[in-house]
Amino acid sequence: MTKAPSGGRWRVAVLGATGAVGQRLIQLLENHPWFEVSAVAASERSAGKLYSDAARWLLETRIPASVASMRVLPCASNLEADLALSGLDARVAGGIEHSLAEAGIPVISNARNHRMEPDVPLLVPEINAAHAEALTVQRSRRGWKSGFLVTNPNCSTVGLVLPLAALSARFTVKRVSVSTMQAISGAGYPGVASLDILGNVIPHIAGEEEKMETETRKILGRLGPDGFEPSKCTVSAQCHRVPVQDGHLLAVSTDLEGSPSVDAVRDAFASYRSSIEDLELPSHPKPVIILRDEPDRPQPRLDAMAGGGMAVTVGRVRPCPILGIKFNVLVHNTIRGAAGAAILNAEFLVAKGHVQAR
Ligand SMILES: NC(=O)c1ccc[n+]([C@@H]2O[C@H](COP(=O)([O-])OP(=O)(O)OC[C@H]3O[C@@H](n4cnc5c(N)ncnc54)[C@H](OP(=O)(O)O)[C@@H]3O)[C@@H](O)[C@H]2O)c1
Repeated sequence: MTKAPSGGRWRVAVLGATGAVGQRLIQLLENHPWFEVSAVAASERSAGKLYSDAARWLLETRIPASVASMRVLPCASNLEADLALSGLDARVAGGIEHSLAEAGIPVISNARNHRMEPDVPLLVPEINAAHAEALTVQRSRRGWKSGFLVTNPNCSTVGLVLPLAALSARFTVKRVSVSTMQAISGAGYPGVASLDILGNVIPHIAGEEEKMETETRKILGRLGPDGFEPSKCTVSAQCHRVPVQDGHLLAVSTDLEGSPSVDAVRDAFASYRSSIEDLELPSHPKPVIILRDEPDRPQPRLDAMAGGGMAVTVGRVRPCPILGIKFNVLVHNTIRGAAGAAILNAEFLVAKGHVQAR
């Protein structure tokens, strides 16, 4: 691992620090062994205010004292940080993240804007650690020396790709059909109006189905000499917003070559070991996939915090009369699906020497 400046911790700027993902980032970075929050940045509406006044804090823990008293800064390229973690609104994330990376700051983003760009890793390090090698191409193509752009997937996509990676390690995944039941915290704050979601299900989340279908194939694909080659598996997604606070539940059916038995599929989940276990990254859960046997698990309220919110819970593995195998998955959308994923990516990129102290 590249050493942090003067043996201390790496300085992290949180972009979009006042939002739902930004708050999770700040919560998860409190007492982090490698990282410390050095700057909080958000819109002009918040800039200049104390963080404790600017953020409507929504989490069960207190605002870390060191952050509560910080002044919120505008998202400008003079932020004092070795790297930036972004929870910016996608309406503004693209340009801001690009200009910070261009100015030399490594940016790891939760926003959708750069995910599908041909030289930007869409990184889930347990699955596609090799995709980080695209940063060499990204830097030389863009003329960037120390800055870069890395993204993590959409919150429901990460819940799908982890079990599919376990299956891909044993079988060829040909087709996937997934229906999601997604928590309201996935829409940020204040998100969906209470009168729209209470006692209701909304069968549309703008852009979400397309993201699940394209991001999954990029993540499960390989980095070839000419760039990212998406996986050949076909993915069909149907996404629904449900009145749950945290935790996206996915119902997945899949067609696996050779039609393996339920027991073989269960074993693939139970014995899955990620390729980065040896790096001992602070946010890496062991195991990454938790397999439950009960007929009524996983559930958002009971399983969202599995592995500190960083593991996904798989259950109800059973035959599917149409595609062969079906199962359920639960993922914490603002931890594994957003803030925790970005922090894990930062840990991985630091451990692999992609980040230099500034
Ligand atoms: N929520 C999830 O589960 C989830 C999961 C995966 C990915 N994501 C993605 O993560 C990003 C953040 O989502 P969220 O749910 O945290 O949204 P959010 O609660 O609406 O927060 C958005 C943040 O962006 C800032 N912002 C808005 N306009 C800005 C501008 N013009 N300049 C600078 N900052 C600006 C806001 O600052 P102010 O407070 O000053 O307005 C706030 O800090 C989005 O791109 C989203 O798609 C979210």
